[in-house]
Amino acid sequence: MNLTVTQKGWIATLGFVFTATLSLSGHVVAQSANDSDDTRIINGKPVNITAVPWQIAIVGAYYSSDWVAQSCGGSILSANWIVSAAHCFVFGSDYRPDAEASDVEIVAGITKLGVDVAPRIQVSEIISHPDYDPASTKNDIALLKLATPVNLDGSTKKAIALPWSQSAASWPAKNTPATVSGWGNTSSTESDYPIDLMAAEIDVLTSPSETQCGAYGDMYLPELMLCAAEMTVGKDACQGDSGGPLASQASGTWTLAGIVSWGIGCANPEYPGVYTRVTTYLDWIGQHAPELVDEENEEETPGGGLPIWLLYEATQSAEP
Ligand code: ARG
Repeated sequence: MNLTVTQKGWIATLGFVFTATLSLSGHVVAQSANDSDDTRIINGKPVNITAVPWQIAIVGAYYSSDWVAQSCGGSILSANWIVSAAHCFVFGSDYRPDAEASDVEIVAGITKLGVDVAPRIQVSEIISHPDYDPASTKNDIALLKLATPVNLDGSTKKAIALPWSQSAASWPAKNTPATVSGWGNTSSTESDYPIDLMAAEIDVLTSPSETQCGAYGDMYLPELMLCAAEMTVGKDACQGDSGGPLASQASGTWTLAGIVSWGIGCANPEYPGVYTRVTTYLDWIGQHAPELVDEENEEETPGGGLPIWLLYEATQSAEP
């Protein structure tokens, strides 16, 4: 039994109902061989935000320290849109009301949480997937519409591409390298939340056609989820990384492959990290945020619409 008690106010006060359930499912989490004094994400390393400039922190609006307030990660899709995980906002609990837009804020462009100073940006709308199911964690995706646009500076704050031009049937392939990042727990056995942004190079473990991930059996829903971890050293996301990016290069462009969603333990050799499979949700994203649709890859509008660079400009440079 591995029950982790977190020390962060926001997490401890409000409780991660979902992660607590999984942590309690009776599996002993293996300690990695060589992480004695260098546990990050789990076995990642500190990075500057410029390495993953799409990463943002989601913070509880009622806590003033960003480190205390941080509950989840997210990714910048444009100056006005963030993507994260539904379980960060929808709790499916009688005891914990779902988050409203006024309960959360985002912090962009920072590396050291609670140390680097950046203005918080308010959220005008949380759009959680209507079929998100806390019991199975299926459809664990949410869009946040920002009340004021992020000032995308191209180095510390930058949008990540959505995989419009990838085939959902084949991308990301098994063994595709990918980067996961966040301010989540750096220990698989205790509570050790970092100030530094952490990232780990991991691998996609399941091609879209594979039906099994580790020992999850039918908890793994292959069309909706993808499995990723580094199994030799034991690199993985952990509590607090949820909602954050699993980024992979597709034809030289950093592209969002997955959203940190769940796992049994962290860096557990039998249970890799499970991510929301972003290719499955492109239509849903496009319905709510049509300006994010890459028209070049939309079959309905061959040769129509704005030239791609103009479309890019239009989504990137909204006035603050
Ligand atoms: N659900 C967790 C969170 O709320 C993320 C867990 C990811 N676990 C893993 N082993 N990759 O932060």
